[in-house]
Amino acid sequence: MKTVKALIFDMDGVITETSENHYLAWKSLAGTLGFDFERAFNEKLKGVSRRDSLELILQAAGKATAYSEAEKKRLMDEKNALYLASIQGFTRENLLPGVAAFLGEIKGEGMKVAIASASQSAPLLVQKLGIEAWVDHIVDPAGLPGKPDPAIFLSAMDHFGLTPEECLGVEDAVAGIAAIKAAGMFALGIGDRTVLTRADLVIENFESITLKGLLEVAHGKNH
Ligand code: BG6
Ligand code: MG
Repeated sequence: MKTVKALIFDMDGVITETSENHYLAWKSLAGTLGFDFERAFNEKLKGVSRRDSLELILQAAGKATAYSEAEKKRLMDEKNALYLASIQGFTRENLLPGVAAFLGEIKGEGMKVAIASASQSAPLLVQKLGIEAWVDHIVDPAGLPGKPDPAIFLSAMDHFGLTPEECLGVEDAVAGIAAIKAAGMFALGIGDRTVLTRADLVIENFESITLKGLLEVAHGKNH
C-alpha cells in the first residue's frame, strides 16, 4: 500500500456518539406513527440519509405509501428538530474517547483529515465539538448517493487530489464500511468486529490504537 496521506472520518458514532440522538429522535417520531421502534432495527439506519431512513421506517411500519411528499417532508423536519434540540448542548466533552488525541496525532504528522458524513448537521457538530482546527474538509452530502455508494469517500479523496491507496476511511456502520471498501480504501471499523465483518481492522475506540500502530497495519496490508 502507498503511504496514507489522508484519513476520512464518518461523524456519527465515530467522532461523537450522536447515533443515540438520531435513534431516539426517530423512535419518538415513529411512536407518533404507531410504530414500535426497536434498537436492533436502528442498525439498519446507521449511516443512512434522513430521507432513506424515513422510507425504511415507513416500510417497516407497513406505511410505505401512506404519506404524501409534503407529509414526508414534515415528518423529516419533525425528526430533525428533535435531533437538533438533543445536540444543542454538545461541547468538546462529547468527543468519543481518544478522538481528540488521535486527531492531534494526525495533524502532527502533516496528514489531511476529512469528514464524510451523510448528516447535514456535520458542519454544526464540527463547530460544537471544537475540532475545526483539525478538520481540513467536510464533504457536502447533498446530491451525492448515500452509503454504501463510495461517492462521499471518493469526493473527499478528490478534494485532496489523492488515490484510494493514499486514503484511509473510518466508519461505525455496515453501510459505511461497504462504501469505504467500494472506494478501494483501507477501512477502519469502530465497534463490533462480528458486525463490521468487511472492515480491514476493527477497534473499540481510539484509545485502543495509536496512529503509528494503525498505519503499520494499513501499510503492511498489501505487502
Ligand atoms: C448519518 C447517521 O451519519 O447521518 C444517520 O448515521 C442519519 O443516523 C444521517 O440519519 C443523516 O443525518 P441528518 O442529520 O442529515 O438527518
Ligand atoms: Mg456513523
